[in-house]
Amino acid sequence: MLSLNDFLAATESLVADAHVAVAAADSADALTAARNSLVGRNSGRLTALMKQLGQLRPDDRRAAGAAANQAKEAIEAALDARTAAVHAAAHDGPVVDLSMPARHAWRGSRHPVTAIIDEISEIFRELGFTIALGPEVELEHYNFGALNFPPDHPAMDMHDTLYVGNGAGVLRTHTSPVQIRTLQQYPPPIRILAPGPVYRRDFFDATHAPMFAQIEGLAVDEGISFVDLKATLTHFARRIYGTTRRTRFGPSYFPFTEPSAQMDVEMDLGDGKGMRWVEILGCGMVHPNVLDAAGVDSEKYTGWAFGMGPARIAMSRHGITDIRVLYDSDVRFLEQFGS
Ligand code: PHE
Repeated sequence: MLSLNDFLAATESLVADAHVAVAAADSADALTAARNSLVGRNSGRLTALMKQLGQLRPDDRRAAGAAANQAKEAIEAALDARTAAVHAAAHDGPVVDLSMPARHAWRGSRHPVTAIIDEISEIFRELGFTIALGPEVELEHYNFGALNFPPDHPAMDMHDTLYVGNGAGVLRTHTSPVQIRTLQQYPPPIRILAPGPVYRRDFFDATHAPMFAQIEGLAVDEGISFVDLKATLTHFARRIYGTTRRTRFGPSYFPFTEPSAQMDVEMDLGDGKGMRWVEILGCGMVHPNVLDAAGVDSEKYTGWAFGMGPARIAMSRHGITDIRVLYDSDVRFLEQFGS
């Protein structure tokens, strides 16, 4: 039969030993070893002590059990305090959790619309086109008048166009003013591609954005015909959509081209409606009034022009049905397009 005094003495000496052992432990590993040997569930000294409770007289067990629990709390408190101190000494600054998954390295990627603009630029570069740029805040004259818009044309309505200052300037509503600037600056032969943002007073919904990219094309030289226009744009569509894809031209109207046309491509927009004809660009022979207004002799030179929205082409390519995702800057969307 074990006496209560002997049990209490053993408990005290365990606590005293624990304080010495804990103070001596100077690493996380040493502290783990100390914790195991002192209060470890299987082989710890406290467990061994508790097993002796049964050898005490039943009346003494309650006091002995209470003493053992106090000892356990004191030892664990000492271990926890020492663990925190050792940890703090080992880490200057924030705690490093080595089990956390590594961050993957971010690689930037081109926006899908930028990628399409680059791809289209390359197709026309191979055909001898150079890139031309113009201002986004444009003179009203270049945006409309020089392009043969009559003064009361509905496109010039305040509801469609964003005017700047007292009205001589506009946020360009299309890239066509670059035609005028190029024709004024360089003598034919001219072959330019003019990508860039344009602005319209539109609601921002699934199919419209108040600012979007356009790509303008212009070719002016002696003897340029509608056949050159059709051949060039058909070549372009085959490069973008593949050689077996069907394309067609149909009549259209723009004040700055005569005749005017649109090119449709047969495609499935991923909206559940299947294959159908989708207009991808407007085009036509440059109107003689436009050549003359820009100081190019319309008796000697002819030319054609086209304008398209690369966002529409990116959407058709990737099965995107809501244009707004192109403007959200959500990396989870943008990441999908690789380099
Ligand atoms: N500027 C026209 C538009 O924004 C497109 C176009 C450009 C049409 C050149 C014909 C020739 O709709």
